[in-house]
Amino acid sequence: MAAPYSKKVMDHFMHPRNVGEMENPDGIGKVGNPVCGDIMEMYIKVKDNVIVDAKFKTFGCGAAIATSSMATELIKGKTIEEALKLTNKAVAEALDGLPPVKMHCSVLAEDAFKGAVDDYLKKKTGVGLQGWRPHEEDHEH
Ligand code: FES
Repeated sequence: MAAPYSKKVMDHFMHPRNVGEMENPDGIGKVGNPVCGDIMEMYIKVKDNVIVDAKFKTFGCGAAIATSSMATELIKGKTIEEALKLTNKAVAEALDGLPPVKMHCSVLAEDAFKGAVDDYLKKKTGVGLQGWRPHEEDHEH
């Protein structure tokens, strides 16, 4: 049987980058996956509109860990606007793909990041991320 996960997924699952809590984050996103009930927290540090650091913590599966690890790597150094363009599909592609049944796991990282940006913007400007709400009920991938 062929391995369902790419080498990159296995690498980020076995050696996740940026795991743990962050002291004094500028934004925190906490979300739950409506499909499986797993949860994720993401922390960001922002300087001059650039994400200078990102970390995550999850009670999620291997695919959630791998996508969050890759997502934090990809958003670091980007402006908020650039990072917001990063979709869960792009993160999955950067990992050389996920099995279709695990695509919902990658949404956790995207939602947690958007939640962290929402939190950051609310603290900074009083207004959160326009049009954002966590995927609570429905989901299409
Ligand atoms: S099964 Fe829940 S995040 Fe993957």
